[in-house]
Amino acid sequence: PAQQPLQGVKVTITAGPTREAIDPVRYISNHSSGKMGYALATAAAALGADVTLISGPVQLATPTGVTRIDVTTAEQMYVSSMQQASNSDIFIGCAAVADFRVAALASQKIKKTADNDGLTLQLVKNPDIIASVAAMSAQRPFTVGFAAETEKVAEYARQKLQKKNLNLICANDVSDPALGFNSEQNAITVYSTTAEFALGQRSKTDLAQALISLIYEQYQHEKKH
Ligand code: PMT
Repeated sequence: PAQQPLQGVKVTITAGPTREAIDPVRYISNHSSGKMGYALATAAAALGADVTLISGPVQLATPTGVTRIDVTTAEQMYVSSMQQASNSDIFIGCAAVADFRVAALASQKIKKTADNDGLTLQLVKNPDIIASVAAMSAQRPFTVGFAAETEKVAEYARQKLQKKNLNLICANDVSDPALGFNSEQNAITVYSTTAEFALGQRSKTDLAQALISLIYEQYQHEKKH
């Protein structure tokens, strides 16, 4: 077989969107297809890593050799992520996690009536998964986040790197419809506190291979220091 440099390395990856229920038939979500996260799982497994993929609802097949855990909501993804993180060497948060959920889930379908021309939904903040992983005091994995931005990409990505205490952040400009959410291609700039690495536009499959190699290099570098 091909070279397996990541043999014995446990990698956990989140992928896809989360869904936050409004009532029994409706939800809040986003356009994440899971393609980027699944490509990362495929690339890491191909290099021999022991890969767990924590996946929101997507229409993709489980990559060969990867352990998949299906979740729906941000809170479920949080619980599963914290369980996996403590025995992971590397944790990559590629999921598009809903920042907010509905405060009071309606038990029955919300009805349209003659007197409600408008409807106000109250939202509450979801836990920040990647920040919680990065804040672990014991057995903290090398933690890699993503930043999906529509403006000031570098500035906002660096802010997230620092605020969430990540080892690396992978910034993508999602204002371009050819990149980011539910597209075949992507382009990423990876930031650490001391360096940046530009990975230009290409298929998510090719980008994921380059990104996994870069993440592994940085992880090894960190271990030595
Ligand atoms: O799935 P695809 O269609 O292939 O699209 C790929 C992608 C655009 C979704 C992906 O490349 C990407 O950018 N993923 C992160 C999307 C996102 O939610 O970014 P953010 O900037 O809002 O979040 C920053 C980081 O915090 C992310 O690592 C996110 O997983 C994490 N987060 C956010 C909120 C939250 N409550 N918990 C988190 O862990």
